[in-house]
Amino acid sequence: MDVDIDAGPGAMRFIPDPVNKDWDQAVTFLPASDNKKLEKNSPGRIGAIVAVVILAAILALIIGIVVWHFHFRKDLKIQKIYTGSLSISNEAFVDAYENPDSPEFKKLANQVLTQLKSMYSDSPQLSRYYIGSQVQAFSEGSVIAYYESEFAVPVDQEAAVDQAVSNLNDIYSGSKAGKRQIETNQGPLVLGNFVSSASTRFSQHTKGFVEDIIKSPGFPDIPYPPNSFVQWQLRGDPDYVLKLTFDTFNLEQNCTNDFVRVYDSLVAVNKYIMAEKCGYYSPSDPLAFISSRNVMLVTLVTNEVGNFPGFKARVSQIKKDDPSVKCGGTLTGSTGIFTSPNFPNYYPPNTTCQWNIEVPVGKFIKLKFPKFMVSTGGSICMGDYVDIVGKRLCGQQSANMLSTVNSNKGTVVFVSDASNVDRGFSATFEAYEPTDPCPDQFQCSNKRCVNRSMRCDGWNDCRDSSDEVNCQCDPYMIQCKNGFCKPMFWRCDGVDDCGDGTDEVNCGCKTGQFQCKNDQCVSEKQKCDGTPDCKDGSDEEGCGRDLSCTVSTFACANGKCISKPNPICDGQNDCGDNSDESNCDVGEFPWQVSLHIKNVAHVCGASVISERWLVTAAHCVQDDAKYRYSQPGTWDAYLGLHKQRDKQIVTKRALKQIIPHPSYNPYTYDFDIALMELESPITYSETIRPVCLPTATDTYPTGGTVTITGWGATREGGSGAQVLQKAQVRIINSTVCDQLMNGQISSRMMCAGVLSGGVDACQGDSGGPLTYLSSERMFLAGVVSWGDGCARRNKPGIYTFVPKFRGWIKEKTGV
Ligand code: ARG
Repeated sequence: MDVDIDAGPGAMRFIPDPVNKDWDQAVTFLPASDNKKLEKNSPGRIGAIVAVVILAAILALIIGIVVWHFHFRKDLKIQKIYTGSLSISNEAFVDAYENPDSPEFKKLANQVLTQLKSMYSDSPQLSRYYIGSQVQAFSEGSVIAYYESEFAVPVDQEAAVDQAVSNLNDIYSGSKAGKRQIETNQGPLVLGNFVSSASTRFSQHTKGFVEDIIKSPGFPDIPYPPNSFVQWQLRGDPDYVLKLTFDTFNLEQNCTNDFVRVYDSLVAVNKYIMAEKCGYYSPSDPLAFISSRNVMLVTLVTNEVGNFPGFKARVSQIKKDDPSVKCGGTLTGSTGIFTSPNFPNYYPPNTTCQWNIEVPVGKFIKLKFPKFMVSTGGSICMGDYVDIVGKRLCGQQSANMLSTVNSNKGTVVFVSDASNVDRGFSATFEAYEPTDPCPDQFQCSNKRCVNRSMRCDGWNDCRDSSDEVNCQCDPYMIQCKNGFCKPMFWRCDGVDDCGDGTDEVNCGCKTGQFQCKNDQCVSEKQKCDGTPDCKDGSDEEGCGRDLSCTVSTFACANGKCISKPNPICDGQNDCGDNSDESNCDVGEFPWQVSLHIKNVAHVCGASVISERWLVTAAHCVQDDAKYRYSQPGTWDAYLGLHKQRDKQIVTKRALKQIIPHPSYNPYTYDFDIALMELESPITYSETIRPVCLPTATDTYPTGGTVTITGWGATREGGSGAQVLQKAQVRIINSTVCDQLMNGQISSRMMCAGVLSGGVDACQGDSGGPLTYLSSERMFLAGVVSWGDGCARRNKPGIYTFVPKFRGWIKEKTGV
């Protein structure tokens, strides 16, 4: 028999801990040292104490020697187990090889063991410390043997043995060894401290069309156990590949603690790791893997901390030539689509697909990749990649990556290697006229086409800024020196939006603004309003606040006294400096609440719905490492607040209870709503009033105007506002929104924004209201929930759709 070796040993390190066992016995033995006997036998007491002390000393010495022996002596041996596989090319697989008790299995296993022994005998280190091997399984291809080899290695020889194993891999890899050839190999698999725990192994063979189920221990009743190492060896019939679909996957976030590995092999060989996963995967974003052969191995490793629900997965087999795994072919016509196998789920390892694309003669090919996630395998496009007429692409590419082929024919090849799979790609091709690559559109320098209206609009739509250079700006745009145009409202806001500082020079104040002595601009309304708004306080200087006004007159900021009744906020500029009409927005949104972490800061918004109840977002009340946001005691609610700095003088309430929606999903922000009960009821006033709740059947028309309010950041990455801000946005159709937000919109969400960008809620607005005006009443249509950045083009704000929760609110609050 000739044995082709398909893998040198990989290694699993196992370090037994005999020291601690002895230590345990010694310790339990010691306190039992016959205290009772001593008490009974008082005449011999001193002698007994001496005896015990001596005994203890002897024991301590023994323990010391044992510890020293096992821990520090250089000739202490540790057990090292290497796992590997080798392929036997001149043997055909027979069913009996699946049964370790069959004579056929035993015969072939013995041959493999002889082969291994002879390989190890070539190396002095390996032959000296070799204990033995065990063949664990065979699989097709022609026949692949999976084995474990055990070595007893002196501590100081560990590295040398690892090296010898790795040398062996090198010797037998490639073709130099003629018939005794190792085709692949892998390095030691070191599982750190995980391996000291018990290891469990399940094996199953999926047959026909039935689906098998594998589950983490205890699932779904109890969390998976700590310190476990569990393996599932999965097999299918010949000519089939295995599909593993995780229906539930919820592990600890940190993969260094707990993880699941999926191998394209029957044993844990590093070279065949398809993926290592931890954390949570939502059922709407499933996790499914396909093997390249009829075997797969799943391992679960857990440590002592943080045990989570675990996973449940289905194992099925699919024919190798099934359309769902087949790929490549000839694509003709003017447009078309193709995807990597199993897209949008993980492509199988060891796969090559070739698409030959042919568009009508005379045209060129444009390829777009709406999604592109191809594992790089470490080095640049050496592992998995897509080759477009000789140009390789790999890694994660931005949405709608573009590539062109200057011919009417071209090939696209997708290659995945033995390890590390990813979700792959979807692609479209279209024919274009070489002389007019962007009909009716603007052609970017990078060949992308964008709408003509996107030229010089302040947004980098081409992704290479070529749509924003050499611009003649509209009058409502800032003309930057470098040729860019930026929205006027970014002028003099302290941020260099042009990139060359043009928007931040000559920042004399705009009309309606007061220029502070330090050149800062504040609203004219803030001059002489009793609070210093300029950092140098110059807006409150020389206000001549005339204290001589009588109680029946109003003191204007400019010193004038007005004797007219109710001059404040009557819409008339009685003072001449408008100070009687400033701050009139107070009370415009009397349901707006500012939720503060007690004595720390504003964190979220909320809305008053009754004397006792507030509505906010569930994501505002999720604990993190620093704060227990879910606890009522963490919060203070400020009601009737306009400027954050006035919080001392407005109504403040502690909370009695917080009820987050039970279905809230922290990963998808679905069901992002929570109720807060105030510790004591409030009295409604001019500045505190509830918002109306919609009925469960309410819908809002696409394009309808809605109002959002809050003290959140005034630009992406910016800081929160001092004064309550309001903005008007439009309702966006959910289907459109779902496309813009990459399929993340559920029926519990609604989208609103200004798609050209610039207006949106932002960090700190969460939990606050999105109100819809109907028959002169303001209804709480939405709750500020999430967004992709803030105010970006084509990225609307996402709000919890309140009508869906009308019943739940009623049930929990009676409102
Ligand atoms: N989640 C954010 C908060 O906690 C609100 C984000 C709203 N973002 C948006 N672009 N509309 O404050």
